[in-house]
Amino acid sequence: MSDVPLAPPNADADAAPQARPISGARIVAITSGKGGVGKTFVSANLAAALTRRGLRVLVLDADLGLANLDVVLNLYPKLTLHDVFTGKAQLRDVVLPTPGGFSVVLAGSGMVEYSRLTPEVRSEFLHVIQTITPDYDIVLLDTGAGISDVVLFSISLASEVLVVATPEPTSLTDAYAAIKVLAAQQNRSHIRMVINQTVRPGDGRAITGQLQQVLNRFVATGSGQPLRLIHMGDIPADPSVRDAVMRRQLLLQQMPGCPAALAIGQLASKLQSTLLDQPR
Ligand SMILES: Nc1ncnc2c1ncn2[C@@H]1O[C@H](COP(=O)(O)OP(=O)(O)O)[C@@H](O)[C@H]1O
Ligand SMILES: [Mg+2]
Repeated sequence: MSDVPLAPPNADADAAPQARPISGARIVAITSGKGGVGKTFVSANLAAALTRRGLRVLVLDADLGLANLDVVLNLYPKLTLHDVFTGKAQLRDVVLPTPGGFSVVLAGSGMVEYSRLTPEVRSEFLHVIQTITPDYDIVLLDTGAGISDVVLFSISLASEVLVVATPEPTSLTDAYAAIKVLAAQQNRSHIRMVINQTVRPGDGRAITGQLQQVLNRFVATGSGQPLRLIHMGDIPADPSVRDAVMRRQLLLQQMPGCPAALAIGQLASKLQSTLLDQPR
């Protein structure tokens, strides 16, 4: 596995925030090293599954540059986070209901200028998340991929990080690079893993174990302890996922009994019990 610099190329004191999760709220950043691995698919369907379990769930499209949660959910928002950031709308105007019963805040395609972490973007982002989280049991951040300063900042607001990776070597190398930066900059004791598009049962656990071995050898957290990867589950490669995306429907509604939907249900159950085990 390739070695990467511990800090992103443009890191400076401002752009490398320590994790400062917002207290009291259960914010889970869903992130990945490489794009196209299934973050948005997992975010939307996990939100639907958590909603079915009786939780109040919000998904925030934190992929400010390449937002596509609206596409997956077939929503055509008039107002987005962009309008909140520019003062044209109130936050409550951009919280939308979805067919899955959860709420979303969409970024909109006009967010390209926010792909850089300026002090304004930082404070707007923080304000939005602080204002919105008290109304929900869990907030999922569908973040961008990689280790840009905006991505790292959005992750720093979350109490839990769920890294989505696929078994492809490129996805794993990029996941390792992202995890390594998170370990160095955010001082996290653990990161949760979900392996998407698996082919054989047991793939994800084996992959997570291999990544853990590399981390143990090369990466220490601020406390000197190796970062612990927690395998939360596998989601099999399943043709129904593509069908649902093409129809712009939630997999959990379109094909609730298919293998990928069942796996998302298990992930929701595990995440719920994990989060409820933690004192607020
Ligand atoms: N478990 C899966 N089985 C089959 N195809 C999948 C699966 N997960 C994701 N995909 C495919 O990958 C595409 C990209 O997923 P997406 O959630 O948009 O990725 P990201 O948000 O990480 O960029 C989806 O549109 C879908 O076609
Ligand atoms: Mg996405």
